[in-house]
Amino acid sequence: MRLATIEKQRYHKKHLHNVQRLAMNKYSAVIKTIASYLPEKILTNDDLTKLVDTSDEWIMTRTGIRERRIAADDEFASTMGAHAAKAALHSAQCSPTEIDLIIVSTMTPDYLCPSTAALIQRDIGATRAAAVDISAACSGFVYGLAMARAFIESSMYSTILFVSTEKNSAFTDYSDRNTCVLFGDGASACLIRRGGHGLRIKTTTLGASGEESELLHIKAGGCRLPASSTSYADKLHFIQMNGKELFKHAVRRMEEAINTCLTTAGVEATSLRWLVPHQANIRIIDALAKRFSIPDDRVAITIDTFANTSSSSIPIALEKLQQNRLIVSKDLVLLTAFGGGLTWGATLLEAT
Ligand code: ACO
Repeated sequence: MRLATIEKQRYHKKHLHNVQRLAMNKYSAVIKTIASYLPEKILTNDDLTKLVDTSDEWIMTRTGIRERRIAADDEFASTMGAHAAKAALHSAQCSPTEIDLIIVSTMTPDYLCPSTAALIQRDIGATRAAAVDISAACSGFVYGLAMARAFIESSMYSTILFVSTEKNSAFTDYSDRNTCVLFGDGASACLIRRGGHGLRIKTTTLGASGEESELLHIKAGGCRLPASSTSYADKLHFIQMNGKELFKHAVRRMEEAINTCLTTAGVEATSLRWLVPHQANIRIIDALAKRFSIPDDRVAITIDTFANTSSSSIPIALEKLQQNRLIVSKDLVLLTAFGGGLTWGATLLEAT
């Protein structure tokens, strides 16, 4: 073949690749802004020693948690979520009336009905927006991102507000040392649109196994065990969990999700700028980072100050990275989550 023809073919191939890339970026779902809201009240490990038989040393060494935020009596999943939503909209200079859909991930909704998303829609004046809650416990953020991406890339919606908000303290038994040291409250909101600058959602992987649903449970309050004086006396409206079993599943499932996500994207773990894992236990995070040889300075940690804020733990950590300008153009950021259900997943983001 003549050299000129080869050159021409190469040019066309490269050109086609660039056009495909541009088209892909143009239609991709991109997180434009993220904002968080954390309640003012701080509950330290020492404070908890006054409530249950525990110690700062046990909590720090077994979980990595030093303190957590607790919502005030008049703060709820919807009000914290609305705070975060207003801040995300403000920094994107986006009017609430531009929003097509509000997705809220929460395992601690204001009510069983109406949805927390509907309350946030009212509170921020997003009069055009549809509104829906999703329930995937601590994996809610990666599940919600996958859904927002699908709505945007299918062109069904172009502006999505995705809020993750949790008032875990309302479902925590502060006489149970197995759970009360673990959880905190907080909210985050992302504005997601098509194309342009931000964090492009490159690849998503989701999984679930209802076989192990008993490992993390809020038994009462649903139709199977409606609220009653007995369920209240037996403390069945609080989070109950088998921590030891969950620990094993958490590491294994997040490892699987990361492998699938990276393989789908054709990316090596060494290329990642950040791993942003769900913040349930520092030992789970360390085990995971070790399995992929990701050094400590590439792993986002907020568990020490905010504890486990369920589905808002990943976006809170992501926002802290952005606030400190630690994500720059072309950085690859891998999110991974695990939670009740069981549910798990991973999402690869690329800064554009
Ligand atoms: N202070 C002091 N001692 C404690 C405390 C405490 N706060 N809590 C438990 N202990 C005791 C136990 O009673 C037990 O004592 P025993 O040996 O006399 O019975 C001992 O410490 C060891 O308990 P373990 O449960 O084996 O402790 P472990 O090292 O497994 O840590 C923990 C417990 C922190 C809960 C851990 O198992 C964990 O993080 N699990 C995973 C949690 C998770 O990933 N959840 C899913 C996501 S959350 C979501 O979806 C909402």
